Amino acid sequence: MRKEYLMTPGPTPVPSEVLLAQARPMIHHRTPLYTKILVTVTEDLKYIFQTKNDVLIFASSGTGAMESAIVNLFSADDKVVVTSNGKFGNRFIKLAEAFGLTVIKLEYEWNEVINPDDIKKLLEKDENIKGVLVVHSETSTGILNDIKTIGDIVKDYPAVFVVDSITGIGAVEVRTDEWHLDVVVTGSQKGLMLPPGLSCVSVSEKAWHAVENSTLPKFYFSYKKSRESFHKAFPQNPFTPPVSLIIGLSEALKMMRDEGLENVIKRHAVLAEATRAGVKAVGLELFAPPEGRGSAVTPVKVPEGIDGKAIVKIMRDKYGITIAGGQDHLTGKIFRLGHLGYYDRFDIVTSIAGLEMTLAELNYEFERGVGVKAAEEVFMENPL
Ligand SMILES: Cc1ncc(COP(=O)(O)O)c(C=O)c1O
Repeated sequence: MRKEYLMTPGPTPVPSEVLLAQARPMIHHRTPLYTKILVTVTEDLKYIFQTKNDVLIFASSGTGAMESAIVNLFSADDKVVVTSNGKFGNRFIKLAEAFGLTVIKLEYEWNEVINPDDIKKLLEKDENIKGVLVVHSETSTGILNDIKTIGDIVKDYPAVFVVDSITGIGAVEVRTDEWHLDVVVTGSQKGLMLPPGLSCVSVSEKAWHAVENSTLPKFYFSYKKSRESFHKAFPQNPFTPPVSLIIGLSEALKMMRDEGLENVIKRHAVLAEATRAGVKAVGLELFAPPEGRGSAVTPVKVPEGIDGKAIVKIMRDKYGITIAGGQDHLTGKIFRLGHLGYYDRFDIVTSIAGLEMTLAELNYEFERGVGVKAAEEVFMENPL
């Protein structure tokens, strides 16, 4: 018998409560029963996004939601600032370019945090900038960008602030209204503890004004269509929604409400701290700088003389622990331990133990057990 452990920053493990909810007999999406579920789910999402704004749901992965923001807010040739300090920032650049926007790229090294002042300087220079697009939790590097400070800057300019918080929502604080985040996107297979296939987007009043002026073609991802359907006498989706995923989401959100958002965020912070303590005790170096470490994923530098791809392979093939490798130019140079969503203390202990056994097999020199002990200490000092 072999047990599998999914320790990647998405897809993430799905609780059995959610799996069972998804296995319920199918219901029709134009019925009072579905309406009731959709309304509850939307209210619960507002709680998680900390917003009074509309929250729309689409049948897509996170990238679809990123695309939806571009086609709904902008017109061809609109000037936008897109920041990038990793793979998903680069994806935002590619998406904006694919739709004919004029992209001012603000690019950083992958181990750097985005500097909000750089955004301010650009906005100050050019009042025609229509949007600022930022990845909050950059999953490829574990870096958490400071969207609070950026939101505080962008609010004083005509530009709308679009945030990819695909691995931020449900793991770290996202105060959509208080931080002036105009559009926030997330995907289901991350902190929301669902299978892939569903995305959620919050849209502020300022963003709705941008929607009014946007002329890029849109149909399936139309924010207006989605809002109109939701505001009918019987709230619904414009097209057949992924009913089972939405029923699963209602269960996941109930679990998050029961735990309390503050505790969900605290749990992620403690899991991240224990993971960092574990890998540091083993003698490994963290990839993300101290000023920008998130709680979704811990990227770790592969030590000199060790094959980074072998770490991922041995953990998966020998021990059943699936972790993520580095992406693009970081392939083989870092590996990433996920702790986003349905995780608790002993998932972390398992992954650190598996890592220690793997490193020992690869002849990396360290005292076995020190990583697990360091993680345990964090948990004993921070009861969850
Ligand atoms: C920060 C971030 N943005 C975008 C994406 C892309 O989302 P998806 O793979 O769901 O399309 C991911 C997925 O890992 C992500 O972590």
